[in-house]
Amino acid sequence: VTTTFGRHRLADWPLDPTGAYLNHGTVGVTPLRVMEAQRQIRDEIERHPSRFLLREAAGRFATSTSSKSRLRQAADRVAAFLGARGEDLVFVDNVTAGANAVLRSFPFEPGDEILVSDLGYGGVTRAAMFAVRTRGAVVRTVEVPWPFGAERIADALVEAAGPRTRLAIVDHVSSGSALVLPVASIAERLKERGVPLLVDGAHAPGAIPVDIPSLGVDWYVANLHKWAWAPRSTGILWTRPERQADIHPAVISWGLDEGYTAEFDWVGTRDLTPYLASTAALDLLDEWGGAAVREYNHSLAWRAGHYLAERWGTTFDVPEAMIGTMAALPLPEAWGRTAEEARAVRDSLLFDHGIEVQMHDWRGRLWIRVAAQIYNDMDDIERLAAAMQAVQRRTMSASRS
Ligand SMILES: Cc1ncc(COP(=O)(O)O)c(C=O)c1O
Repeated sequence: VTTTFGRHRLADWPLDPTGAYLNHGTVGVTPLRVMEAQRQIRDEIERHPSRFLLREAAGRFATSTSSKSRLRQAADRVAAFLGARGEDLVFVDNVTAGANAVLRSFPFEPGDEILVSDLGYGGVTRAAMFAVRTRGAVVRTVEVPWPFGAERIADALVEAAGPRTRLAIVDHVSSGSALVLPVASIAERLKERGVPLLVDGAHAPGAIPVDIPSLGVDWYVANLHKWAWAPRSTGILWTRPERQADIHPAVISWGLDEGYTAEFDWVGTRDLTPYLASTAALDLLDEWGGAAVREYNHSLAWRAGHYLAERWGTTFDVPEAMIGTMAALPLPEAWGRTAEEARAVRDSLLFDHGIEVQMHDWRGRLWIRVAAQIYNDMDDIERLAAAMQAVQRRTMSASRS
C-alpha cells in the first residue's frame, strides 16, 4: 500500500474533513481540480452560450465540418481511456439514461424475456420492467448462488438463458454486493445461445481496468462520475457498431435517424460542462497514477472487509479477484434484517457519528458496503467499526427497555 494516499488527501477534495465518507460508490466525489476545470468551461460557455452550445460544443449547427465538436473530442479522449473508438461512444446523463436508451429501443415481442440477476441495480431492473410492460414480455430474475464465486455466478446466469431470452443485463461491478463479475466469459457463453448482453459498468471505469471492445458485449453503459472522478452527471454508452442503427436515446430530439452520435449528442438544451470536464478528470487520474489509485483503493477495500468481519464476528467470504474498490459483507444476524433497520443504522452512523456508508438488506440479512477512495484510510474503517458497535449497543438496549 502506497503511503501517498489517505485522509491527508482530503485537501484535494471538497468533502467535509471532519466526516468519514465511505460511500464514493453511491455518490462519487469530484476532486477540486476537476471542479475548477468545469468552472472554467462554464465561464467559457457563458461568455457566448449560443455560439458555444450550438456551434462548438455539440456541433449541431456547426458552420464548418472540418473540426470536431468539443463533445466529440471529449468522446475520443474518454473512449481511448476505455480502449474504444470515439465514434462508438456517446455521452448520457448517467447509467440509468444509457440503460433506458438500450432497453426502450429494443424490439421486444410477446413472450420474450430479459434476464437480470438479483444482484442487479434496482433502477436498471425497473427500466427493464418498464420497457417490456406494454409488449407482453417479461423480466426474469436469476438468484445468484452464495457464497459468491465468479464461475458459479456465470453458470447460474448463462444456464438460465432460454429460447425466449432476448437480452441479458449483467453488472461489471455489482452494486450493493460489490463483486467484479466475469462479463467477458458471460458474454461469450451467452453469445453461443444467441443472447446479446448489456453490461452495467456503473462502478467500473477508474475502479478496475476496462477495455470495452475486448469484452465482446453488445452495449456497455458506465458512469464516469463515480470512480473516474468526472463531475456529475457524466455517463457513457458504448454500442457495438452493428447495433448502432437500432438504438435511440431515451429522449428524442433533432438528431432522430441522423446516426448514432448525432442522435445522442443533441437531446435538447442541457449542461455539457460535466462531459467536457471529464477529460480533466482523466488527466488527473493519469497525473496521480490510475494504476496506483486502483491498487490503493483495492487494498484498502480488501483489508477493510477482513478487518470489519473480524471485529464484528461475521464473514467476508469473497475471492480477492472479485473485489475492486469496494467490499460488502453481511452484518451479524442479530443486528437486523429489514430495509427499515438498514436505513435506521445508516442514519445513526451519519447523524451521530459523521460516517456515511452504504447499507441494505439482502436475503434476510443487513449488508454493509465500504467504498475505498484515496482520501480514505484505515482510520475511517476503525472509526466505522467502533461506531457500528456503539449504534448496535444503543439499539439493543433501547429494544430491551
Ligand atoms: C450497478 C449500478 N447501476 C446503475 C447505477 C445508477 O447510476 P446512476 O444513478 O448514475 O444512473 C448504480 C448506482 O449506484 C449502480 O450501482
